[in-house]
Amino acid sequence: MNRVDGKVALVTGAGGGIGLATTRLLLEAGGRVLASDKDAVAGGALRAAIGAEDALDFIEHDVTSEAAWKNTIARCLERFGRIDILVNNAGIALRERLDEMDFATWRKVMDVNLDGVFLGVRAAVAAMRANGDTGGTIVNVSSIMGLVGGAGPAYNASKGGVRLLTKSVAAWCARDGLPIRVNSVHPGYIRTSLIENAFAQVDPARDGYTPEEIRESIRALHPMGRFGEPEEVARAILFLASEDSSFMTGSELVIDGGYTAI
Ligand SMILES: NC(=O)c1ccc[n+]([C@@H]2O[C@H](COP(=O)([O-])OP(=O)(O)OC[C@H]3O[C@@H](n4cnc5c(N)ncnc54)[C@H](O)[C@@H]3O)[C@@H](O)[C@H]2O)c1
Repeated sequence: MNRVDGKVALVTGAGGGIGLATTRLLLEAGGRVLASDKDAVAGGALRAAIGAEDALDFIEHDVTSEAAWKNTIARCLERFGRIDILVNNAGIALRERLDEMDFATWRKVMDVNLDGVFLGVRAAVAAMRANGDTGGTIVNVSSIMGLVGGAGPAYNASKGGVRLLTKSVAAWCARDGLPIRVNSVHPGYIRTSLIENAFAQVDPARDGYTPEEIRESIRALHPMGRFGEPEEVARAILFLASEDSSFMTGSELVIDGGYTAI
């Protein structure tokens, strides 16, 4: 079950956290993976974590650049001959308070989290057309913050945008007769550097609470009483990428320990 034997996947933001766990799982499930991240350091981290594998390649790729997307898709076709799966995972979270944030912060978050996903979806659909009847699958990493408010205006808006971009492209592909399924995943708080960096930015003098206090209060918002692990999100991504989810498109899979259930 949940196999992707022989399939070729492109995973963005693969240098750590959810992207790294997804890359590892796709390889274990029989896939070949072009892993990408915005800097070469991430590529080094990925190789250190996974090791050298014929089925794995890495490319430096900033998802906000149209030219970089062209280059990355070309590399995938050159290295593996096709692309069957795209995991739009790259994302950022910045410190956001509506009363303090400037427009540049808003733009930066939207650029990576939403524009980057649009560029990826557009590029992948064009490349997957060449697969004919086998088509492809696209999994967009949104967040519970694309379902409910609570993070910050730009992060919430970008992740909400990913949710509806997913549904729009899913419906368009299906109605156009393209066998390309597009779904989103919505993780709760997952133990990665993204949230560790956010906690580290807490300044008790300015914010009125310590990093430990905010960590504890956020943990308590998950009825299961803990943060999630990157592998727990990767398993949901693998499910949506594989034929086990063959009748799912435009749907949203929530992996949040019950956060949005209450
Ligand atoms: N960790 C969480 O609690 C959580 C919850 C919900 C959703 N998410 C989402 O999951 C995804 C992965 O996050 P993570 O928690 O693994 O974080 P992470 O910081 O560990 O990994 C994100 C990766 O994206 C890369 N990246 C950032 N900007 C990029 C760009 N412009 N181009 C290419 N790569 C870029 C980073 O270098 C990093 O390797 C993100 O989209 C994030 O918003 C995370």
